[in-house]
Amino acid sequence: MATNDDALLRVQDLHVEFKTRRGQALVLNGVDFEIRAGETLCVVGESGCGKSMTALALLRLIPSPPGRIREGRVLFQGEDLVQATDARMRQVRGNRISMIFQEPMTSLNPVFTVGDQIGESLQLHAGMNARQARERTIQMLRQVGIPAPERRVDDYPHQLSGGMRQRVMIAMALACRPDILIADEPTTALDVTVQAQIFDLLRELQREKGTAIMLITHDMGAVAEMADRVMVMYAGRVIEQGTTAQVLSEPGHPYTRGLIDCLPELGSSAAWDGDAREDLAEIAGVVPSIWELGTGCAFRERCPRAMARCAAEVPPMFAVEGEVAAGVPHGAACWLHAGAAGAIGAIGAIDAQGPRAKEAA
Ligand SMILES: Nc1ncnc2c1ncn2[C@@H]1O[C@H](COP(=O)(O)OP(=O)(O)OP(=O)(O)O)[C@@H](O)[C@H]1O
Ligand code: SF4
Ligand SMILES: [Mg+2]
Repeated sequence: MATNDDALLRVQDLHVEFKTRRGQALVLNGVDFEIRAGETLCVVGESGCGKSMTALALLRLIPSPPGRIREGRVLFQGEDLVQATDARMRQVRGNRISMIFQEPMTSLNPVFTVGDQIGESLQLHAGMNARQARERTIQMLRQVGIPAPERRVDDYPHQLSGGMRQRVMIAMALACRPDILIADEPTTALDVTVQAQIFDLLRELQREKGTAIMLITHDMGAVAEMADRVMVMYAGRVIEQGTTAQVLSEPGHPYTRGLIDCLPELGSSAAWDGDAREDLAEIAGVVPSIWELGTGCAFRERCPRAMARCAAEVPPMFAVEGEVAAGVPHGAACWLHAGAAGAIGAIGAIDAQGPRAKEAA
């Protein structure tokens, strides 16, 4: 099992804000996590909780203005990408860290052929000439399961089906053998068979190249199937992290428990004490908007286990008692765990400055 030393990317105390007509909206409010070499980290949470913003912030793709990284660090092999120049970010993107976007048409250019688009990246980052890039592109298209790649390489994006476009995106994202692949809901728009094929493909490429994958998904079934570790986000914060077994079978945060209970086949109650489970079978209520957060735990209005303290203070990340997988701490930002081992701050990031309990602005 991976240890802290394998961290390829370490995100510390990341804050992203957007200027809106109502004022500054803090959409990421102190996000801490890491991605380790060769692993699949799944990021889950309801719509609007900050999953895509986190991914975009890593690659410095937050639309700016109106958005900006207000504070925090994104350490990629020790280098802080928040401080990197635009020229350096162009080298990193698509080359060392690449991204598959939810809607392929937003990142495929309609006026260039598939071959031009993948080939351009190979010429830019891998120093190939046009002929080498074309050959490598055909090889990549074959690898992602596109039939007759020698012909498809000259197709324009609109000539391909949704599933084929998604494969082209994956080929493009993997062309330069990135260290990290970020996949934001890569299969949401696709039918179940194609989804399964794409997950197989990601696993295969990961085995072959040792690429770390950050998979953003709403689908807890995909998490169970794909993830080594899971991080759960809620209202712009990471509220739980651990191995897939820790998070899915012994969730420490009532919100995670609620997400799992929405999926019948994963909804085992073995590790959950109390009567709260029934009440959460569908998580009642909605994620509070940034303007309604106020003080305390952002989940408290929906939480069947909320206590007085939950309204007063934002819970820091606490260690969750239970089986500890080697080197992988299980943490939940919930006062229910305050009695255990104490706050552990940024999970996994042992050099971080300790517990974080800052209040939303
Ligand atoms: N241009 C913007 N101005 C202000 N707030 C924004 C802007 N774009 C996004 N947000 C806010 O940022 C927050 C995080 O959004 P994000 O797209 O990261 O959510 P998500 O977890 O990816 O959701 P989904 O599952 O729906 O993709 C949301 O509350 C959203 O309203
Ligand atoms: S801190 Fe309190 S309100 Fe928040 S999830 Fe834990 S018990 Fe519920
Ligand atoms: Mg999103």
